Amino acid sequence: MPDRTVLALPAEWYCSTKTWQAERRAIFAREWQWIGREAQLMEPGAYITAEPAGFPVFVLRDKAGDLRAFHNVCRHRASKLLLDDEGRCTQLVCPYHGWRYGEDGALLQAPDFQGAEDFDPGDYGLFPVRVATWLGLVFICMDEGAPGLVEWLGPLGARIEGFLGDGREFHRDLGAEVACNWKNYVDNYQEGYHIPVVHPTLARDLEWPEYRVINVAGGSVHEVAPRGQSGQPGLFGWKYPNLMFNTYGPGISFMRVEPLDPGRCRIFYSHFRPAGMDPGDYEREIVQYGWQVSEEDQWLTPVVQRNLEAGVYQAGPLSPRHENGVWYFHQLVQEALGRVPA
Ligand code: FES
Ligand SMILES: [Fe+2]
Repeated sequence: MPDRTVLALPAEWYCSTKTWQAERRAIFAREWQWIGREAQLMEPGAYITAEPAGFPVFVLRDKAGDLRAFHNVCRHRASKLLLDDEGRCTQLVCPYHGWRYGEDGALLQAPDFQGAEDFDPGDYGLFPVRVATWLGLVFICMDEGAPGLVEWLGPLGARIEGFLGDGREFHRDLGAEVACNWKNYVDNYQEGYHIPVVHPTLARDLEWPEYRVINVAGGSVHEVAPRGQSGQPGLFGWKYPNLMFNTYGPGISFMRVEPLDPGRCRIFYSHFRPAGMDPGDYEREIVQYGWQVSEEDQWLTPVVQRNLEAGVYQAGPLSPRHENGVWYFHQLVQEALGRVPA
């Protein structure tokens, strides 16, 4: 980060529909998106659906045991094919006019579709999407040209694998809708500056003066030592654009910030506890602890959002000591959008 005053992104970028649409194409359609867990897709025909940044997709376990992913968009007149969050299906039949697709996405049947001599079902297969798994998490990517998932995760992925060592068991999912732009929530995540003010319990348990954010390729690692005997804070991190992980004590949670529209996002956590740890203890000591910290951020970020929308503030200075992670995130957003603040 340069040693001169650098400003945050302009307030308008957190509010405008035009920026949001540009981000959908230039960021979310190009980066890997974590959408679920492989354990939801064990049986042939099992599927999950998701809508990262307003792009409906689904992932299906085919009869051969492979995962396949497609845009959840019928090639006839654009209905969704699968409407539930997850389930099992033996065939892909559109709920609108009954077009039927194979598990490889090929259009098998367009019922009673007559009168167009040149109609070739081969032209109307489902749009494919890339799918890959890592540590039991399912990711999709809409960009054929993007790097593979492990390469995309980069040093951050290796760091998490190193931390995890022996097994973790799925504990539970947790989520909430937040009335703020997704970048507002990522900004908040990307700095420890607000910890003493917003998170008194967390501040009690860590050596805040030592809080460091280290930007790595396409992400940031947050390092801080626990204070005294707390055994709390471990390692936190973020991978551009919207994937995070948090370790508290012996567990790990993965988190994503799902943008819904310019003024709303949904935060989503999957918690994993160490194999053999009592679920009740883990819930009390780790999940509830982390959720309290999250609720403090969920309260504050909408307050910021309303002021970003109010039209008084344009852009404020970032602290070189504490907000280098926010700065890095903003650099990546600017690069992706191919524009700099006016
Ligand atoms: S929109 Fe799918 S069959 Fe018509
Ligand atoms: Fe926070």
